Amino acid sequence: MTPLGPADIGALKRRGQRIAVVTAYDAPSARLADAAGVDVVLVGDSAAMTVFGYDSTTPITVDEMLLLSRAVRRGTTRSLVVADMPFGSFQVSDNETVAHAIRFVKEAGVDTVKVEGAGTRLRRVAALLDAGISVMGHIGLTPQSVNRLGGYKPQGRTAVTAQHLLDDAHALERAGCFAIVLEAIPAPVAGAITRALTIPTIGIGAGAQCDGQVLVWHDMLGLTAGHVPKFVKQYADLGRETMNALQAYVADVRAGRFPETQHTYSMPDDQRELFEADLATFLHEKG
Ligand code: KIV
Repeated sequence: MTPLGPADIGALKRRGQRIAVVTAYDAPSARLADAAGVDVVLVGDSAAMTVFGYDSTTPITVDEMLLLSRAVRRGTTRSLVVADMPFGSFQVSDNETVAHAIRFVKEAGVDTVKVEGAGTRLRRVAALLDAGISVMGHIGLTPQSVNRLGGYKPQGRTAVTAQHLLDDAHALERAGCFAIVLEAIPAPVAGAITRALTIPTIGIGAGAQCDGQVLVWHDMLGLTAGHVPKFVKQYADLGRETMNALQAYVADVRAGRFPETQHTYSMPDDQRELFEADLATFLHEKG
């Protein structure tokens, strides 16, 4: 299977083929996503919440993201792998941004990185591209800036803020991003941005007119314990399934129903007899 590159994702838009993106944080999940035909696997910093149990995305570190990214890379053969640059890894300077992104490429083997925001971030995008690293943009609800945005709220719901999003999307395209995530923005605004750009838009809570869609693994599979945003479609209830399986296991262990013969190892009769004779001698000598 030929692995997809950033240019192939752009070609999907030009061919009018919708782009399927999902987050993943470990090798078995990435393997399933890859085999299911997912085009882009995003190692999202949502891992801070879904995997590490924080209540926001900001605490996750570069080292933690690298660990997850390496696992995801090992699970994929075809999907493009994008690593999210976590909060703090691209805010300080162009040099630090490039140094962190190089770690994602060299140590984790990811294809590209994702950076939240526009405005002052455009310089960072240019620096990354100058270092030969492709970049996915992300505008709208950018969870790393949740405090500045006043909470997990949809963005671009007024004519003025919608126009700002359009301007930001244009600027990210001009800066060289190969695709842009549009998170939690009204469908007509996402549609206008999608039509205005030549690069693909990947929507999450941004309506059906985007070139592709992304969902968070735990949300779409029913593994999220708390609040799930209204834009999530849940495709399975693995939380319930997993709970049923674990409760059945606990009951089996307590009742002595597990393990059964087929779960245990045997030994040749002659060896068992020798062992039992040795054991009898040992116990006798021990008194
Ligand atoms: O971190 C993440 O999972 C993301 C997606 C929601 C786009 O950035």
